[in-house]
Amino acid sequence: MSESSERLLVTAALPYANGPIHIGHLAGAYLPADLYCRYQRLKGRDCVFICGSDEMGVAILMRALEEDRDPEDIVDHYHPMIRDNFEQLGMSFDYYGRTTSDTHAATSRDFFRTLDEKDVFKLKTEEQLYDPKAEMFLADRFVVGTCPVCGYEEAYGDQCEQCGSALSPTELGDPRSTLTDATPELRETTHWYLPLGDMQPDLEEWIDTHPEWKNNVLGQIRSWFNDGLKDRAITRDVPWGVPVPSDVAERHGLDAEGKVIYVWFDAPIGYISATKEWAEAQGDPDRWADYWKDDDTKLVHFIGKDNIVFHCLMFPAMLMAHGDYVLPDNVPANEFLNLEGRKLSTSRNWAVWLHEYLEDFPPERKGADFLRYALAATLPETGDADFSWEGFQTRVNSELADVLGNFVNRTMTFATRYFDGAVPPLKEPSDTDREVLDRLGDFPERIGAAYEDFRMREAVFETMALARLGNKYFNDTEPWHTRSDDPQACANTIHVSLQICASLSVLMEPVLPQAAQELRQMLQLTDIRASTPDGPGDGRGWDEAGSPLLDEGHALGEPTILFEKIEDEIIDEQLDQLKEDAAMTEPTDAVDGAPYADLKEEVDFEDFTKLDLRTGEVIEADPVPDADKLLRLEVDLGFERRQVLAGIAEQMEPDEIIGRSVVVVANLAPKEMFGLESQGMVLMAEDREGEFTPIEAHAEPGAVVR
Ligand code: 2FM
Ligand code: ZN
Repeated sequence: MSESSERLLVTAALPYANGPIHIGHLAGAYLPADLYCRYQRLKGRDCVFICGSDEMGVAILMRALEEDRDPEDIVDHYHPMIRDNFEQLGMSFDYYGRTTSDTHAATSRDFFRTLDEKDVFKLKTEEQLYDPKAEMFLADRFVVGTCPVCGYEEAYGDQCEQCGSALSPTELGDPRSTLTDATPELRETTHWYLPLGDMQPDLEEWIDTHPEWKNNVLGQIRSWFNDGLKDRAITRDVPWGVPVPSDVAERHGLDAEGKVIYVWFDAPIGYISATKEWAEAQGDPDRWADYWKDDDTKLVHFIGKDNIVFHCLMFPAMLMAHGDYVLPDNVPANEFLNLEGRKLSTSRNWAVWLHEYLEDFPPERKGADFLRYALAATLPETGDADFSWEGFQTRVNSELADVLGNFVNRTMTFATRYFDGAVPPLKEPSDTDREVLDRLGDFPERIGAAYEDFRMREAVFETMALARLGNKYFNDTEPWHTRSDDPQACANTIHVSLQICASLSVLMEPVLPQAAQELRQMLQLTDIRASTPDGPGDGRGWDEAGSPLLDEGHALGEPTILFEKIEDEIIDEQLDQLKEDAAMTEPTDAVDGAPYADLKEEVDFEDFTKLDLRTGEVIEADPVPDADKLLRLEVDLGFERRQVLAGIAEQMEPDEIIGRSVVVVANLAPKEMFGLESQGMVLMAEDREGEFTPIEAHAEPGAVVR
């Protein structure tokens, strides 16, 4: 983002109000968006952060039908729950709306009308599946049947979860209604289509102006362009959604009765309607237009990777066709977060749910900061990442408590005990003191650059690097010795350490807002700009945090313990609970009952013995430029080292495979890929969900596997 931009409009994907939020959602969109906005506000930028509940669409209707409730009840239950949980986690939205609002209905219907009047849409009359028992057309997930691509018998009308193919309901073999189990009939119906096929050249031209977008995002977009974009139906015959305006239907001699706007058309317009409601609440109802219609706005959409097509192609196509609005400046989508090495799954209850987490780790005990930190440090920014309870405990105990908390505590304790709870003067600073203050000056820019480029993990790492620097400085200058030998040197150490604490209280605020406030309380540091919409917009902020923030003689507050460690039992309980919940949940994912891979033809023992399998230790692993799926591994086979290219990059971070003792096919003919020679193959087990698990052999490198 250019520094000069006038204003920032940041959105986080509107979550469906049909269930609670889990850590996968947080790591995909919400936490990175919040880190970004809090940082921008501390920089003093005009930044409006918009989110809200996605309350329309088939996902809500399905949940309502499953529970035999009205869709209104479903969204009225989940909307406040999600909103409140977000607030407890410290999400600093300027506005959290909902797409059942009147403003949203009017805004999306107007948008639809404008595009219709501009003759952007195509109307197509086609035969679609109709459930005669339920008396309704079967859109998307209301129909299951056999996938024409892989033969999986429980494929949905819009997608096969077994092979990932995008489908349309009429392509399914042996279709059944998920509502009544009836065999659907074909009936004619007319729908509005967004002609993405025709719009592809304009979209390509626009995407070409954004070479700076994340590789995972551009890679996906390129592959859709290669396949050729298809027109997308943007209306549905279902009884829940924003109704198609009757005047628009009449223009075409049609009846709008029973027709609603497709949820992926109205939901992103929800960002606009929520901004309108925000402006209204500010008492400046026209202000929303500054953010949506002025070219000086930078619009940034934070989303998870399953939303890329909608935010990078469909919504921009809608905005382009409309003509009045700015287009996104960036869409920093994250990949998926796994849990304890397995894919997160709502239907199998393999998840950490935010509302449950907050009960066990309440915000009053910094539960919000713990989760924010642990997730921020492992965000799936470039590939899928893994959350484990043990990892969570290590982050809290060994990083937050032992590094950051310890540094603050020893500094505050010293200042309180030996300097009357005031900032001692800095006199004739040593080279070490000066050097540390110099290095402090670089942190705001270094951490800031990482936030600007959506490298949140790095920003968090660099923030902790400042606390590490503080600890090292404290150790090196040994104030417990200088206190009697050289009191001024001791005073200097505490002065400089307090300045580091003060800077930390600003720089750590995006990720640790609770601890940052507490630390400022300890330091009695006031007149700092807020990272939330409701605090002061003036005062000192990010850039000032590179220079000393505390005056000599300034009176400090009482020291408190910033982070309490988490006991092993607490973590064991979480793990047990996770496994218990998953075991008690009847899985409904597509993979259950999914076919196992067919057995290959029989081979002779002779054939088998031709393979030379060896144990090897992975010494290095790094991504292969331009090859999204490949990692380049250096494997130690004992008698020699090999370079092996493994197609695992989408599932494993280099760190996850380094150090593992794997099984290598050692006599496979070398093969060149992406200009690199692969000298063997690492064996992996691939399950029915397409997940890889390396085959490990805990023997010395070079050991023969037979
Ligand atoms: O995937 C989802 O949860 C969608 N409800 C996201 C919508 S984002 C936006 F377009 F509103
Ligand atoms: Zn399939």
